[in-house]
Amino acid sequence: MEAIIIKEFGGVEKLQLTTVPTPKPTDNEVLIEIHDSGVNPVDWKIREGLLKSRLPHEFPLILGWEAAGRVDAIGKKVKNFKVGDEVYAYCRKPTVKEGTYAEYICLDAQNVALKPKSLSYAQAASIPLAGLTAWQSLFDSANLQKGETVLIHAGAGGVGGFAIQFAKNAGATVYTTAGQENHDYVKKLGADEAIDYKKENFASKMKTLCPKGVDVIFDTVGGKTFHDSLALLKPGGRIVSLLEHLEPADAAKRNIKASYVFVSPNAMQLKQIGDLINKGKVKTPKIEEIPLNQAAEALEKIRKGHTCGKIVLKVK
Ligand SMILES: NC(=O)c1ccc[n+]([C@@H]2O[C@H](COP(=O)([O-])OP(=O)(O)OC[C@H]3O[C@@H](n4cnc5c(N)ncnc54)[C@H](OP(=O)(O)O)[C@@H]3O)[C@@H](O)[C@H]2O)c1
Repeated sequence: MEAIIIKEFGGVEKLQLTTVPTPKPTDNEVLIEIHDSGVNPVDWKIREGLLKSRLPHEFPLILGWEAAGRVDAIGKKVKNFKVGDEVYAYCRKPTVKEGTYAEYICLDAQNVALKPKSLSYAQAASIPLAGLTAWQSLFDSANLQKGETVLIHAGAGGVGGFAIQFAKNAGATVYTTAGQENHDYVKKLGADEAIDYKKENFASKMKTLCPKGVDVIFDTVGGKTFHDSLALLKPGGRIVSLLEHLEPADAAKRNIKASYVFVSPNAMQLKQIGDLINKGKVKTPKIEEIPLNQAAEALEKIRKGHTCGKIVLKVK
């Protein structure tokens, strides 16, 4: 099969489009023929070796953790899928080696879900990693409730676009940060208020919009954005970050709860997200589809940090 591999960490010059053996499913795995692969910031971070001390890896390594495609073969013990099923999955494995920038991937069947019927493969490939991240952050970690207020940073990004919709659908009032050019986009997704973080200080603006503070903050940016957000919570409020850790003693001193999320595969939650999509309650983000052989261009775009919606690689 064709795949984009790296044999060592580094810049886009390390990417190689090459032929590698097509994997064979073990007893509990399905072999997925990938039609589209989602592109995420973690892909360039892995390529550059930024996660090498956290995640075991082996070269040659195929990048990519998000896919939509068709079941091509099943292992002997797989009961819940058959050849031909259209599926999507968050494809992170214990060792970073076999990714989704490829024509096929084998995956434990328990991490795979049926693709929402109304979606193209490109749309479906935009969901698993970003959608699960938003879901697990808002609901598993922050326990967001109906009637609460939430500030979602980077609402126009891959994760933020799902977070706005999930929070709105759960009955929360949604504030978000985004460049002015993306305000129409985030409002169409359901944001009640958008703050142009490039032109105004988002923390001062939030203090005027929500003087008593917000219940929940979802930080997808980190650094100064994370630290400036802490003072915007109500007493007892919750902040969830995808990038930062706060010492428990510091959180306690501030009378807030802080948690860090690293997204996990979860087919049951993918099914719940798929149900919301099938009911028309959640839309897929704006999508730019780029051919697999232009993965370098896709990774450079995502690395710049200003993608509106999602980039996906067209594999088939
Ligand atoms: N821990 C985990 O499990 C996990 C999971 C998923 C993602 N992540 C991390 O979370 C981050 C976001 O992921 P993503 O997929 O959503 O990224 P993304 O799609 O690349 O995000 C791009 C968006 O970020 C916005 N943005 C950039 N700087 C901003 C700022 N200072 N304030 C507000 N918005 C800003 C941009 O808006 P403008 O164009 O308007 O500037 C753009 O729309 C990445 O660092 C990623 O690695 C972690």
